[in-house]
Amino acid sequence: MDAFTFYNPTKLIFGQGKTEHLAEELVVYDRNVLLVYGGGSIKKNGLYEKVTKQLELAGCTVTELAGVEPNPRLTTVQKGIDLCKEKQIGFILAVGGGSVIDATKAIAVGARHDGDIWDIITKKETPMDALPFGTILTLAATGSEMNSGSVITNWETHQKKGWGSIFSFPNFSILDPINTLSVPQDQTVYGIVDMMSHVLEAYFHPAENTPLQDRICESILHTVIEAAPPLLDDLENVDLRETILYSGTMALNGITQMGARGDWGTHNLEHAVSAVFDIPHAGGLAILFPHWLRHSIDVNPERSAMLATNVFGVDPTGKDKQDVALEGIDKLAAFWKQLGAPSRLADYGIDESKLEQIADIACENGIYGNYHKLGKPQTLEILKAAL
Ligand code: NZQ
Ligand code: ZN
Repeated sequence: MDAFTFYNPTKLIFGQGKTEHLAEELVVYDRNVLLVYGGGSIKKNGLYEKVTKQLELAGCTVTELAGVEPNPRLTTVQKGIDLCKEKQIGFILAVGGGSVIDATKAIAVGARHDGDIWDIITKKETPMDALPFGTILTLAATGSEMNSGSVITNWETHQKKGWGSIFSFPNFSILDPINTLSVPQDQTVYGIVDMMSHVLEAYFHPAENTPLQDRICESILHTVIEAAPPLLDDLENVDLRETILYSGTMALNGITQMGARGDWGTHNLEHAVSAVFDIPHAGGLAILFPHWLRHSIDVNPERSAMLATNVFGVDPTGKDKQDVALEGIDKLAAFWKQLGAPSRLADYGIDESKLEQIADIACENGIYGNYHKLGKPQTLEILKAAL
């Protein structure tokens, strides 16, 4: 395996009813708080009231930034930064899914940065500080609650960029499965696809001698594959919500990638798709990942076949590795389709006319993918297969 250093300072507070302990966490932070949330789901499911009660209990003065959009936008981040500076905010509380948390990370760093936040998001500048922030996660999907990553869209330039720094880990995250009970069917499916994709990105790495890393990835995939179908039949099953919530965090908090850095090409390509078409992140992944996997079989047929046998139960007897791998990929695609995820770019009305633009965005920093190196011709092949 590769040499590695693991760092993850986020305090994880997990369990039913933990939302009611928010005030205890807040007491060590500045009480001049910016509360960040999305389009209103927290007002419909009662979480807003619970949170404001806790903020009051802790004696906080609260300024609100509502309306963070899915695929959060630079303009909203800038609004949050301006509010922090104007109101001298000392702590930020994000209540929502990955989009709200990602926007909060950029606001926290931007509030302690004199220049343009876009220069940090595009990695022209390095963050040196951030406001402290905590999160209350409402949707199991991205892992943003326990990692330093943040993905922000500049809609004017059609760029969707991922960035991160040691200052963009949440100080704490409260994961209360009760807060995810109201996630609708489609967003539940997207979350499941996203967390499985994070594990797949990690699984396809170029490092050797990674038995534990590989088994950790396979265990997370097994767990999600087992829990997802019954959850979709019973969205208010708190035990299944709990399993999926924990899985989403474990899928992208750094544990799967100790000593083995994953590929991440499919995420790069999906971000290019959703920079042009404002589609759900995991809708794009569900379409693209099976095609990336087929395109990547020859990079390391043994690894592709290992996924098929160890996760999808494909019997390898008498078959060559490529055929075993293909059977596994077909099973993955069928599983996502059965859950209700989209399977073709056409499902979002995307046709051939925009593929060049998407491929140019995906390749704007040159060759990408740590396991399977892709340039524009290969990117176009994958996109065309996905039409
Ligand atoms: O905005 P509200 O009204 O809250 O509604 C949201 C939104 O419409 C709704 N929702 C969230 N919790 C809910 C709920 N509805 C009912 N009940 C609840 N409890 O769900 C919708 C989607 O929310 P969003 O936060 O956009 O979803 P997700 O968590 O999937 O985040 C997607 C974003 O994260 C980025 C994606 O690119 C995308 O921009 N990613 C971030 C990563 C990271 N930081 O590590 C990694 C990922 O790979 C991903 O790229
Ligand atoms: Zn993702």
